[in-house]
Amino acid sequence: MNLTELNRIAAAMVVPGKGILAADESSGTIKKRFDAIGVESTETNRRDYREMLFRSKEAMSQYISGVILYDETIWQNVADGTPLVKLIEQSGAIPGIKVDEGTQALPMCPGELVTVGLDKLAERLKKYYERGARFAKWRAVIDIGSGIPSMTAISVNAHALARYAALCQAAQIVPIVEPEVLMDGDHDIDRCYEVTQRVLSKTFQELRVQRVALEGMVLKPNMAISGKKCARQASVEEVAEKTVRLLKTCVPAAVPGIAFLSGGQSDEEATAHLNAMHKLGPLPWGLTFSYGRALQAAPQKAWSGKAENVAAGQTAFSHRARMNGLASKGEWQS
Ligand code: 13P
Repeated sequence: MNLTELNRIAAAMVVPGKGILAADESSGTIKKRFDAIGVESTETNRRDYREMLFRSKEAMSQYISGVILYDETIWQNVADGTPLVKLIEQSGAIPGIKVDEGTQALPMCPGELVTVGLDKLAERLKKYYERGARFAKWRAVIDIGSGIPSMTAISVNAHALARYAALCQAAQIVPIVEPEVLMDGDHDIDRCYEVTQRVLSKTFQELRVQRVALEGMVLKPNMAISGKKCARQASVEEVAEKTVRLLKTCVPAAVPGIAFLSGGQSDEEATAHLNAMHKLGPLPWGLTFSYGRALQAAPQKAWSGKAENVAAGQTAFSHRARMNGLASKGEWQS
């Protein structure tokens, strides 16, 4: 393992002014997104859509540091035979790959999930590296509800995240460690804070036990935020203040960067929250976005599967990327 190189890539992923485009929706998830805009989820449509994003010159060269791909996408070529992954490299961004294989029900823990995909991961990482991937992603999902999460769910998911991260570093790939605490319930921001604190603490404990080099990873957490169905929605300032406090208590300064998921926040909220956190600096790590929905909802709508809308889709994507790029420096204005 070359830790200097892993650290260089991790730092480039969270460089101020740029963030990560999470375009790694599984075939099931992208079908849901396409259904919403009335587009059939064929392999060609999925490719054309992602080609539109990766050819967005302004967004990709100025505001996007890296792109997380799904397995299908990393092997796809555009009509002229160029691999999609080459379009990303040519724009100056770093290609990455989602390597978990989704979630399964966790035995003995009703309603809870464990992320799977460790079998043969070392072999898969080798092939992804050869194809150009320099970072990877693994997402664990923790739900908040009555009596959950259990310590069992937190513990097995943290263990798997650390196993994945160690395998990535051994394969010279920077792991994005993503323990997502969902914002779907009616819990308040303080409950989210408390659960996320337990999850992050356990995750970093496992990373240490399994000898993962913190200098060669990126953390992708949720923000401390009110559940979507909570009657009291915390303000932008409260989300920013509590999230920064939480991360300072749990994330060692050796970690080069933190890149948030958007998790169901509106486009503008996701931008406003990140921006407000930068008003609370200085921060010990790079702090930016790794958004899926908050970067893609607008371009998906503008594109709607029509070739004549490609330019409109790219304009919408570039706008969101620029807004989040500004927010990653605390320079966004509503
Ligand atoms: P969202 O920003 O849509 O939550 O997606 C980010 C992601 O990659 C989740 O794993």
